[in-house]
Amino acid sequence: MMKACVMGWPIAHSLSPALHTYWLKAYGIDGDYTRQAVRPEELRAALTRLKTDDWRGCNLTIPHKEAAMAHLDQIDAAARRIGAVNTVVVENGRLAGFNTDGFGFIENLRAAAPGFDAKTGPAVVLGAGGAARAIVDALSAAGAPAIRLVNRTADRARTLVRDFGGIVELVPWDRRTIALDGAALLVNATSLGMDKNPRLDIDLARLPKTALVNDIVYAPLETPLLRAAKTRGNRVVDGLGMLLHQGQPGFRLWFGVMPEVTPALRQAVLAAMQ
Ligand code: ATR
Repeated sequence: MMKACVMGWPIAHSLSPALHTYWLKAYGIDGDYTRQAVRPEELRAALTRLKTDDWRGCNLTIPHKEAAMAHLDQIDAAARRIGAVNTVVVENGRLAGFNTDGFGFIENLRAAAPGFDAKTGPAVVLGAGGAARAIVDALSAAGAPAIRLVNRTADRARTLVRDFGGIVELVPWDRRTIALDGAALLVNATSLGMDKNPRLDIDLARLPKTALVNDIVYAPLETPLLRAAKTRGNRVVDGLGMLLHQGQPGFRLWFGVMPEVTPALRQAVLAAMQ
């Protein structure tokens, strides 16, 4: 039986098992996808163990996405640019690392906001963590003419701008409202607005009504940001789709089928969130 898993610490709340188990069943594949609680000091041994048995690979989540890079045999270009790996594939006894978050982000916009084109105008990205880096990478590749990067901690934002350069411009956190002027896209890539976290404090008055608004937070599904944007007439895309779409390349590499993101899959994963 072909096996894959998700490694994290803690791991109880990961939705990846619900996602991949749904696909295994839907495509009739004789495979297994499990949750593995792996402490930081056990990561190297846990990854090495993948080279034995029938392991096809794994997903990595908090706190392993950056640390794992030191223990892999090869790392693809996107993961190197982003500085994090979320998908590991066993290829001829070697461990190959990928980052599929940027793919998940852009595919989610394509699927949930048909007709949206990143080339239309500037994007505002809030956040400078791993998720923001993947999003900036994907938006650059999709031809965004400018990316206004806004983060609370200026140093972290500066590192991102240095690494991605070119079209990415730094905007101080206290100017986030002004940064919305003429934007075609607003993305919240911070953890603000998540269940127990403070809400994202931003005035949308300057955001064009034609702009698309996306939140990577998916618990709750409708964040205060998305609710406010929808109320004033902006098109909104929630964050669950990014999670679903980022799983597609990994599933294909492990199990040989490019799986589809469908309303039924979304329902199954939503049910697992309860
Ligand atoms: P991920 O890998 O999901 O991107 P992360 O690396 O922990 O997670 O990044 C979290 C992001 O949310 C960061 O941009 C963080 O800002 P800082 O770089 O200033 O820490 C942002 N964030 C978290 N709590 C915040 C808060 N209370 N106010 C503003 N930004 C916040």
